[in-house]
Amino acid sequence: MGLLHFLVVLFTVSITCSSKRPAADLDATPRVTVAFEDLKEGKRFQDSTLNYSTLLLQDERGVLYVGAREAIYALNSSNIADGLQKTIHWKASPERLADCYMKGKDNKTECFNHIRLLQQFNDTHLYVCGTYAFLPSCAYIDVSTFLLPSLFEEGKDNCPYDPVIGYTGLIIDGALYTATRYDFKRVPGIRRSLNHRLMKTEDTPPYDLHEADFVTSVLVKESTNSAIGDDDKIYYFFNEKVREEGSSYADKTMQARVARVCKSDLGGKKILQKKWTSFLRANLLCSIRHYEVLKSVCTMDTSTWDTTTFYAAFTLQWRNMEASAICQYSISQMQEAFEGPYMEYQEAFRKWSRFEKDVPSPRPGSCITNSFREQGYNTSLDLPDAVVSFVKVHPLMHNEVRPVGEMPLLMKNHVVYTRLAVDRVAALDGHSYDVLFIGTGDGWIHRALVVNSMVHIIEEIQAFKDPQPVENLIISRAQRSLYVGAQSGVLQLPLSSCSRYASCYDCILARDPYCGWDGEVCREIVTALERAQMTQDVQRGKEGCPDATAEAPPMQKNRTVLKGDDVLLQCDLSSNLATAQWLVNETGLSEDFGGRFRVGIDGLLITDTLPEHSGDYSCYAEENSLRSLVAVYSLNVLFELPKEKVEVVEPTLPMMLPTAAPQASHKMEFVYISVITILGGLCFVLTIILLYVSCQKNRRGKYGMGNARTSNVELQTVSSNFKEKSADDLNNYNDGCLQIIPGEAPTASPNKATPPPPPPPPPLPSEFTNGMPTLPSMLRKMNGNSYMLLRQNEESTSPLYNSFTEELSKILEKRKHTQLVEKLDESSV
Ligand SMILES: *[C@@H]1O[C@H](CO)[C@@H](O)[C@H](O)[C@H]1NC(C)=O
Ligand SMILES: *[C@@H]1O[C@H](CO)[C@@H](O)[C@H](O)[C@H]1NC(C)=O
Ligand SMILES: *[C@@H]1O[C@H](CO)[C@@H](O)[C@H](O)[C@H]1NC(C)=O
Ligand SMILES: *[C@@H]1O[C@H](CO)[C@@H](O)[C@H](O)[C@H]1NC(C)=O
Ligand SMILES: *[C@@H]1O[C@H](CO)[C@@H](O)[C@H](O)[C@H]1NC(C)=O
Ligand SMILES: *[C@@H]1O[C@H](CO)[C@@H](O)[C@H](O)[C@H]1NC(C)=O
Repeated sequence: MGLLHFLVVLFTVSITCSSKRPAADLDATPRVTVAFEDLKEGKRFQDSTLNYSTLLLQDERGVLYVGAREAIYALNSSNIADGLQKTIHWKASPERLADCYMKGKDNKTECFNHIRLLQQFNDTHLYVCGTYAFLPSCAYIDVSTFLLPSLFEEGKDNCPYDPVIGYTGLIIDGALYTATRYDFKRVPGIRRSLNHRLMKTEDTPPYDLHEADFVTSVLVKESTNSAIGDDDKIYYFFNEKVREEGSSYADKTMQARVARVCKSDLGGKKILQKKWTSFLRANLLCSIRHYEVLKSVCTMDTSTWDTTTFYAAFTLQWRNMEASAICQYSISQMQEAFEGPYMEYQEAFRKWSRFEKDVPSPRPGSCITNSFREQGYNTSLDLPDAVVSFVKVHPLMHNEVRPVGEMPLLMKNHVVYTRLAVDRVAALDGHSYDVLFIGTGDGWIHRALVVNSMVHIIEEIQAFKDPQPVENLIISRAQRSLYVGAQSGVLQLPLSSCSRYASCYDCILARDPYCGWDGEVCREIVTALERAQMTQDVQRGKEGCPDATAEAPPMQKNRTVLKGDDVLLQCDLSSNLATAQWLVNETGLSEDFGGRFRVGIDGLLITDTLPEHSGDYSCYAEENSLRSLVAVYSLNVLFELPKEKVEVVEPTLPMMLPTAAPQASHKMEFVYISVITILGGLCFVLTIILLYVSCQKNRRGKYGMGNARTSNVELQTVSSNFKEKSADDLNNYNDGCLQIIPGEAPTASPNKATPPPPPPPPPLPSEFTNGMPTLPSMLRKMNGNSYMLLRQNEESTSPLYNSFTEELSKILEKRKHTQLVEKLDESSV
């Protein structure tokens, strides 16, 4: 345990050293957690196949095309689940399959036809490529009939053989620009094919793309209104293996890079024949050099290309610790790098270093601009040999592309971000805000607001029940929808779900630029009629709601317990950013009671109650310095059981309570006997559990530096409060097996913690004496005052897994004071 903490601190320090802002500030807790069961607004599409990873949206036609394993679907983008989809089944032929098996290819992955490319070719046809059982094939598909043609094209210049290898492809003016590792030898490159002369990248080391893994490509229309008569460019984002002998990183690390080519490049006349003369690449940096891998890039297109913004997600690997980072880049910074100094490969030292000598003219690697044309260079074929041969051996730039603000927008521990999409939203304050939709490796979506160079995660949504990476994300502004492609299916989600925010405070605190409070409900501002009357505070998430007293106070609940019992007063905060503030008899919790109060994840736990603990308890949610009353309790601690009208309650079987207590005193005996039997059984079970738990101790000792991951210990994000708080009394809640420490609880994946069997939902008014049976199964993260739980995945069947509930039961068991009293409202006594 200590080692793990040490590691976390070390990791935090390492991040802090490489950026100016402390790491804790960069991390963000999703404000709201929406678990799969609570996700009502999604529409799902899935068929009998798998791997719905290629998406193409045609908003004008209202169609979402989906490429999966051996199938292509045309779905209605307004409702992908309407059941009216058109389907093309495209399996590899039996002969092809036989050949694939014979070649010893993996018949579970490689010998399928995985659709890898779906692009609009012209007004009437799509162009589709699939791996076709390890011999890529492509086809034109007439969208009106949506039938597979009888003839396919060979696809080895357009499409990878491998179903999972990095691949990106765009059709621009009838030409297909792709980047991947081609043919069965997996030679990486960037190509242009289809109705054009095939163009390639240089493939002789060290000038080639070394084991590049491509992430995405983007067309930037730089020719539009260009004063210098520039060409459109295609930008490629990828990871490339560093080839630098003598460097300690040699052949070990991947380096994120951005490359670009000019759309009209025709290659050189003698040198670089049929190869790009405009191919240049530069390093892309985010947070920790040499430890980051690019996972996804999304582009915020604007009306003018020179304000184009890119967002990129990286994963960071550092000594078995996994984290993700998000960085923002501007097109002008990329251009600066491509217009800056070149690198040169020095054979003698086998390394790249800055090229210091004279660069030939016109500038190598440029697109053909007006000034080129004035010098008589109308196409790349006209360029002087000196220029072309220079660019052939200087394809790497010296300057790196650094993120906007020189640091990441967000760093997130223990989450793997796999996919990004971005939308720009006009808010009521007259500004536009970028909202990022971020897919995780285990099937969650983070919806995040970019504001003031920071990220506020509005919510995290469990999009898929079974953990699986989010493989594709597409936004439709026309449908106000997000489409999520993954292994098991496609999910359509609204871009916002404002009705989820129940009160004005909730609506304002969410800082969701799509949502505003109209006086009665929180609603989407685009569809609201009276926008002027609506309230929203995206910048600060604070202002605009009437006074808190205006909202109806929650109903008071009564709790009656015996002296010495433990009682949990529940206070369920909808926001993970809120902290619970408890008042007793209108004053703060006093320390006089010898640490018997524990403010926990979902409420206030009072152990070993005394009669003087009786009083009025109120729980306030405090967030962003706004306070609202969430729960009110009246606690009554009795010295002894009242002689009559006493009902003994079996704590874990709330639904079986006899409710008509006073009617039958002769039945009481029977009830007592049953209860004693049940409790006896319970004690036995708990003893077994305790024994089992103590056996686990030895295992715990093995968790060390190197195998933190393999032993499946999950350490959640630790907040900056951790150090200050670890010493206080919250922390002595330690029985040596499962330690609850203040910090932050599960962030992205509460689903991993197999929740304890859900207690039967109690009818509203039946508040059980100590609140135990209704304890929520999911521990959530609340800044500062919550418990952090160390979870052990491999022990999903062990009692440790029942976490907080189990822990409480253990306290109860230890105290051997299991006699509980049913609530005795003042009225009924
Ligand atoms: C397709 O989905 C299956 C099942 O989820 C998964 O095991 C496999 O790796 C996926 N294949 C590809 C190419 O994504
Ligand atoms: C999609 O569904 C909507 C409503 O369900 C319908 O109005 C529209 O015509 C459908 N679009 C297509 C392309 O079928
Ligand atoms: C794949 O190969 C394995 C081992 O040769 C074999 O047992 C299995 O039946 C094959 N599966 C298919 C779908 O052919
Ligand atoms: C689109 O391309 C296909 C395939 O080359 C061709 O048959 C079709 O006529 C083209 N359609 C138009 C409108 O150009
Ligand atoms: C370039 O184009 C101009 C005008 O179209 C033409 O006059 C000139 O001869 C061309 N130069 C070359 C080298 O083809
Ligand atoms: C609250 O007030 C009641 C009576 O006014 C008192 O008996 C009780 O001890 C108080 N409770 C606490 C926790 O101070």
